[in-house]
Amino acid sequence: MGYNVAIDGPAGAGKSTIAKRVAKEKGYIYVDTGAMYRALAVYFLDKKINPENLDAIAAACEGAEVKIQYEQGEQQVYLNGENITSRLRNEEVGNMASKVSAVPEVRAHLLNLQKLARTQDVVMDGRDIGTCVLPEADVKIFLTASVETRALRRYKELEEKGVSCDLEEIKKDIKERDERDCTRKIAPLRQAEDAVLIDSSDMTIEEVVKAITDNIV
Ligand code: DC
Repeated sequence: MGYNVAIDGPAGAGKSTIAKRVAKEKGYIYVDTGAMYRALAVYFLDKKINPENLDAIAAACEGAEVKIQYEQGEQQVYLNGENITSRLRNEEVGNMASKVSAVPEVRAHLLNLQKLARTQDVVMDGRDIGTCVLPEADVKIFLTASVETRALRRYKELEEKGVSCDLEEIKKDIKERDERDCTRKIAPLRQAEDAVLIDSSDMTIEEVVKAITDNIV
């Protein structure tokens, strides 16, 4: 077994930025499980499968082989042999991932791949890492921030990329995603009983990284 750090929290809480920094500082690998759900979302979008058609989603899972690999220290995601990492981070894929992640077959399809990382020193982020994927993790963090803060961060991120967007729309989107992720029947987003809660609304990235690494002994 390696040293396992689990970071869970809602969309836009800064999990991936923080988890990457913590991993770098400690020399651990970083596993972004959201990227795996996003990879399946790309598969379903390409196949034009309706996310409301749960039977079709469940049946199609088998055709999607997701693999992760590290190139120059960065996680690369392969879908049926093709590197699709650059397609993962957009709203359409994120929303599809949130919808299909409620389907038990989708979660089961990715669980083994995620559990494999247990043997390494790893920082893993997602929604159910402390509760389901790595229940024995050495350190569990629940990282959150207010809806306003998360929406504003996302807005700035999109603006920097030159993508025009509407703050109220982003807020609405985040609230819907929170609702879906928290209320699904299987592995909903929730704080593990033994997780440390960090609200990053008024914290800098450095402060959050320190709050987490202080827990790693
Ligand atoms: O963290 P993210 O935005 O990349 O995740 C995309 C979606 O994938 C998220 O809305 C819910 C789902 N997800 C999940 O259900 N369980 C995880 N461990 C990680 C992500």
